[in-house]
Amino acid sequence: MRKPMVAGNWKMNGDIVTNEHLFTAIRGGLERASIAQVDVVVCPPYPYLGQAAAWLNDTGVVLGAQNLCSQPNGAFTGEVSATMLSDLGCGWVIIGHSERRTILGEDDELVARKVEIALAEGLGVIVCVGESLQERDAGVTEAVLGRQVDAFCALAGGAAAERFVVAYEPVWAIGTGKTASPEMAQAAHAFIRARLASGGVGHAADIRILYGGSVKANNASSLFGMPDIDGGLIGGASLVADDFLNICRAAQAA
Ligand code: PGA
Repeated sequence: MRKPMVAGNWKMNGDIVTNEHLFTAIRGGLERASIAQVDVVVCPPYPYLGQAAAWLNDTGVVLGAQNLCSQPNGAFTGEVSATMLSDLGCGWVIIGHSERRTILGEDDELVARKVEIALAEGLGVIVCVGESLQERDAGVTEAVLGRQVDAFCALAGGAAAERFVVAYEPVWAIGTGKTASPEMAQAAHAFIRARLASGGVGHAADIRILYGGSVKANNASSLFGMPDIDGGLIGGASLVADDFLNICRAAQAA
C-alpha cells in the first residue's frame, strides 16, 4: 500500500509577507482538510526554508527543497548542500526538475549524483522525469523516460521505498494549463514502474510515482484515481492555499 504524497513546488515565487499569508492559510485549513493519510510536502525557495520551518512546525507538513548541490561542501559559490538542507529541517528535496534540466543544463548523470548525495544525507528524494512535446510527437516518450529512469535505477534499488519518489512531469504540461489525460499519465506511470522493476528495483511496486503538470483542484481526483498515480507534484496551484488543500483532499480520497 503506497501512501499518497502531495508536494508543493513553489518555484521562484513568494516573499516574506506573501509566504506568511500562505502559511497561515495552509495551517488554518489543515485541520479541516482531514488529510491524515497523505504525506504533504511544501518546497519554498531556499531563502525561505527557515521561515517555512517555523511556520510548518507541528503541522505534520514536511519541508522540502527544490534543488541541492551534487557536492558535499566547499568552494561552490552560490550552491546549497544536502547537509544544509537537513540542518534547516528539510525531509525532502526535488531533483532533476525539467526546468533545471532544460534551462540550467542538468543531465542524467548530474541528477544521479544529486540523488546519491541527498540519500546519503538521509533526505527523501523526489526525482523528476518527463518528455518534451517534441519528444512525445516524435513517438520517443518511452525512450526518453527509460533513459532518465535508468540513470537512477541502481540508486532507487538501494534506497528505502518510503524515501524514493519519482515524479512524472510531461514538460508540455508544466505551467501550461494542459494536463495529461488520466489515461495518458497512467500509461507513463505504469511504464516507469515497469522500468524500475526491470532495472533491478526489487521494491518498484512500493515506490511512489507522482504526476506533475497543471494539476488543479478540479482535475486532481481523476488523476489520483489511476492505479499507478500516487499523488502529485504541484506548481502553480500550490501557491493558493485552498487549491493546495483541495488537491491534498483529493489524494486522501483516492
Ligand atoms: P504546474 O508545475 O503545476 O504549475 O504545472 C508543476 C511542476 O513544475 O512541478
